[in-house]
Amino acid sequence: MRSGTLLAFAGATVLGFSGYLGGRMSYVRGVGVNQTAFDPGPPQSTAVLDSTELGDEQLHGTDAENAPVLLVRHYGGLHAIHNRCSHRGCLLSEGKLEGAVFTCPCQGSQFDVRVGTLVRGPATASQPRLDVRETNGRIEVRTATRAEQLRPEPPAIGGDMFPAA
Ligand code: FES
Repeated sequence: MRSGTLLAFAGATVLGFSGYLGGRMSYVRGVGVNQTAFDPGPPQSTAVLDSTELGDEQLHGTDAENAPVLLVRHYGGLHAIHNRCSHRGCLLSEGKLEGAVFTCPCQGSQFDVRVGTLVRGPATASQPRLDVRETNGRIEVRTATRAEQLRPEPPAIGGDMFPAA
């Protein structure tokens, strides 16, 4: 057999095994799957907390239609993102908020708590943002539309937005 044929056969073997391994890791072991992909939250506004239970610079983990939700008041703004870290699923409400950056308690991924944007890995996906409002003394959330997910958040007034590196 010619060396070119042998090389092509070896390449195809490596390619096939890599595909098998990647598929097995993703579909059987769930490695690398975005942990927020399967419970986006309620499509309709859903009350999750009394307004008085969330003070300024406080965070609160709750649930809305089986989706874990992280509520944060930050410099007067009210924000809601998915509470299960997209990396391996730890609850962000057990993490730490510095400026506008929220750090996951497990492997330290960081997200902009106002919009869920990934700031630093190992996570590779941002946290889904939920639309949040206060009505009649209650905080309500619903799954944000794609356009709402992409809407930039205005900079907060006062304080450092990001902690010193
Ligand atoms: S689970 Fe959050 S960084 Fe790994």
